[in-house]
Amino acid sequence: METITTVAQLRHALAQTRKAGKRVGFVPTMGYLHDGHLALVEASRARSDLTVVSIFVNPTQFGANEDLSNYPRDFLRDEALCRYAGVAIVFAPEAQEVYPATFETFVEPGELAKPLCGAFRLGHFRGVATVVCKLFNIVQPDLAFFGLKDFQQCAVVRRMSVDLNLPIEIVAVPTVREPDGLAMSSRNRYLSGEERRRALAISHGLFDAADKFRSGERDVENLIAIAKEQLNTVDRLQYLELVDGHTLKPAESPVRRTAALCVAAYVGSTRLIDNVMLSLP
Ligand code: PAJ
Repeated sequence: METITTVAQLRHALAQTRKAGKRVGFVPTMGYLHDGHLALVEASRARSDLTVVSIFVNPTQFGANEDLSNYPRDFLRDEALCRYAGVAIVFAPEAQEVYPATFETFVEPGELAKPLCGAFRLGHFRGVATVVCKLFNIVQPDLAFFGLKDFQQCAVVRRMSVDLNLPIEIVAVPTVREPDGLAMSSRNRYLSGEERRRALAISHGLFDAADKFRSGERDVENLIAIAKEQLNTVDRLQYLELVDGHTLKPAESPVRRTAALCVAAYVGSTRLIDNVMLSLP
């Protein structure tokens, strides 16, 4: 495995691979890797000849009062996990390599970026779309892998790729959870033991609603109310919404198309997100 920090070196390293007609799979991350990230690597290894993982805490997707400066980092551990997982190249640029002083061009996503997280993290998806577009142009992969844990991010990236004619297949990978149900996240490390226990209400509320959906409940208000019942142990519920799985607009009641029940909540000062897909049989 090779660790590369500049665009020029990465292009050089991948030139031979591309000439040989090998399929390049790409997994963009912000590091502090866990089994959720590694599931993306595994999915990439299954479908590509060579997997590139980027580790870059992207400043443009963090708001002024968010956790950019204390976002968890452990590069040596990440490198070891990648090596063990069969990654060929780790691309870990410095911020100035991605955003030189002259940088001024952004990718502006549309309607898909407005609801849910987009309504509370202004500019977040503009930063995500911009860095993902840049990373796509730098790596030029055949396939790119994203986790459904960040359901709206998947939707925004997929739409960007279609709208900008990027020749990259976007693959969405199911959310990896701790054995008790908590969705894996680099931010879980901020939780104290007591907060960790209270955070379980998020996934449990979503699972309850999904169970009721499976047994035939189709009323939007009822499904939201079922999830909400569990969510009284979080410190602040930012949103709990049932949205159409394609448009991300509020789902119509009764539910007749694939929908996503999405939540963002604070436990202590940690903001956690999760979702479940409600797919019709
Ligand atoms: P990060 O939060 O590090 O996540 C990197 C990728 O891992 C994303 O596609 C995310 O959805 C996926 N992921 C995280 N937790 C997961 C879980 N429990 N199960 C499955 N997949 C999971 O998302 C970002 O970084 C950034 O916004 C990025 C796309 C790298 C752009 O900066």
